[in-house]
Amino acid sequence: MSDAALRRRLLAWYDAHRRPLPWRSSKDPYRVWLSEIMLQQTTVAAVIPYYERFLSRFPDVRALASADEDEVLRLWAGLGYYSRARNLLAAAREVARRGGAFPEDPEGLRALPGVGRYTAGAVASIAFSKKTPLVDGNVARVFARLFAMRGDPKSPAFQKRAWARADALVDARRPGDWNQALMELGATVCLPALPSCPSCPLAPACRAKALGLQESLPRQTERKAPVPLRWTALVVRDGGRLLLWRRDAHERLLPGHWGLPEARHLPGTAPGRLLGRLTHSITHHRISVSIHEAERPARLPPAARWTTPREAREMLVSSLWRKALDSAA
Ligand code: ADE
Repeated sequence: MSDAALRRRLLAWYDAHRRPLPWRSSKDPYRVWLSEIMLQQTTVAAVIPYYERFLSRFPDVRALASADEDEVLRLWAGLGYYSRARNLLAAAREVARRGGAFPEDPEGLRALPGVGRYTAGAVASIAFSKKTPLVDGNVARVFARLFAMRGDPKSPAFQKRAWARADALVDARRPGDWNQALMELGATVCLPALPSCPSCPLAPACRAKALGLQESLPRQTERKAPVPLRWTALVVRDGGRLLLWRRDAHERLLPGHWGLPEARHLPGTAPGRLLGRLTHSITHHRISVSIHEAERPARLPPAARWTTPREAREMLVSSLWRKALDSAA
């Protein structure tokens, strides 16, 4: 199949089958950028409510630029990979400083904090119709099958070939739709485990399918072992109230989140009776938490707050701390 026929087929399929996602109704670069940052390492279903809440609180880049970091982190709480939220705010401030207009070219976009090659390609092509490619995990899988590319899709050698393919294929008239069509095919048809080849518009051109390799390509990436961590969490009660702790905005894990205080937060308070244990994974950390009763400290640090059980339930947005309270109850 010629490249022109391939483009025609995939774009026609995209026009008929694309999901009506909230960020697809606008080419506002702020909205495109926000959605693409949120979609990194996070599923569409998880992103939608966050995207909508974020936009109603910060409808444009100036509104975001004047926010404080605490509020941004609070709105981000639960999405994970919190460096994205910090970079988001830094990038918004940078754009606002330059008059409120996003750079239109991938090179200019990449100068913004948190914007890598993928995000720059997405924003330049979708918001500014620049003929520029992108490769994410979905596109890498589609290419691995379409072109029967062997090797680990995360390896530099594979990535180099995939970006070269993407660059050669990107549609000149509808670059943003083309890039989204490739991602959409990966997200809805060319699935990791069981590709739905009968509904794929590119099946007649697919090298992996012709070779019967559609389920063995791409090669699985070896997973790195998670980093083990041990936390000692304290359940400190005062009558009906529970002591919660606001983690510092610069902690690597769960920054700005309310949770149980850890023993290291309350020096001088000895962990008492063991109430429960749990394990929880965040990014590439595996956290073993032991939960202990403890006496109330003589003096409360500013990050601590007494809460009623109802307040606590509303403040604990991380599933780790909800699990901890359940296992301490
Ligand atoms: N994944 C990340 N961004 C996407 C987009 N714009 N369309 C489809 N899938 C995506």
